[in-house]
Amino acid sequence: MEFINPSSTAYKIHLYVTSKGELEMLKQIGVTVVAGMIVASGTTSIEAAGKAKGLLDPNRVVNIAHRGASGYAPEHTMLAYDMSHKKFKADYIEIDLQMTKDGQLIAMHDETVDRTTNGTGAVKDKTLAQIKRLDAGSWFNETYPAYANAKYKGLKVPTLNEIFDRYGKQANYYIETKSPEVYPGMEKKLLDTLRRHGLSSNRIKPGQVMIQSFSRDSLLKVKQLDPKLPLVQLLEAPQMTDVTNQELKTIKSYAVGVGPSFKSLTRQNTKQIRNAGLLLHPYTVNEKVDMQRMLDYGVTGVFTNFADRFNEVLKHTKKK
Ligand code: G3P
Ligand code: CA
Repeated sequence: MEFINPSSTAYKIHLYVTSKGELEMLKQIGVTVVAGMIVASGTTSIEAAGKAKGLLDPNRVVNIAHRGASGYAPEHTMLAYDMSHKKFKADYIEIDLQMTKDGQLIAMHDETVDRTTNGTGAVKDKTLAQIKRLDAGSWFNETYPAYANAKYKGLKVPTLNEIFDRYGKQANYYIETKSPEVYPGMEKKLLDTLRRHGLSSNRIKPGQVMIQSFSRDSLLKVKQLDPKLPLVQLLEAPQMTDVTNQELKTIKSYAVGVGPSFKSLTRQNTKQIRNAGLLLHPYTVNEKVDMQRMLDYGVTGVFTNFADRFNEVLKHTKKK
């Protein structure tokens, strides 16, 4: 595939398609091919070049919208997801899962509702009906007045079902099993939910659904239920201190990548992880200077609350 005008910022791209394989690949990612030329609305040629690579391609850098566009809107609400997916066109919507007393999977980072709603108490002690009565947006307006918006008031906590209903196969999902020891059976419920929405590994493009966890046990349970779903082992900063090749080899036996704190990454351990054949998606990279440093080290994506900023850094980097 050869670019005619790689520096164009126009909202149309024109590429030569040189093989049937490339044509099929482009069709799979939703690019329209007309008489050997490609027209990709809303995408610059530079962005399209990256997106033409598969989501699991180690040469592609993915933009993972951490809890949605959570720098600008209340985390894990549909408006935060809409913003990252539709406005910023991030590669992934990142979702943290908790489970209610009546066994419903919901998107929430904390085990309690205290920080991100007007309620108090543990998710595991509340039914979905109780969770649905909470306001998941007003806290954001109070905490971040610079980004406050009247429409955030009264937003609801979404269920995983509702998220899949809303975005279906149009989005890519990067889903974390949170506190799996508190929620026995959450992996099976997750896999059942994916299947009901046509998102099992045999019905989606590779990498469209990624499963991440700090818990190796949880990832291994997912692997048993759907061996082809790509897994990412999250790592706390102390786990990255003097990480050994043997540990990375063990992770590689069940996962496609690792997600460490970006603060624990160095040029050296980045190289070590990449040499182990693992994707590398550090969290949570919000400042441009850190995004640029991560790219210079050689990461294959970042979790960020500001997907728009990362797009800008990527664009600038590719133009260099
Ligand atoms: O999932 C990557 C990153 O989100 C892990 O940290 O606490 O934000 O879920 P946390
Ligand atoms: Ca997470």
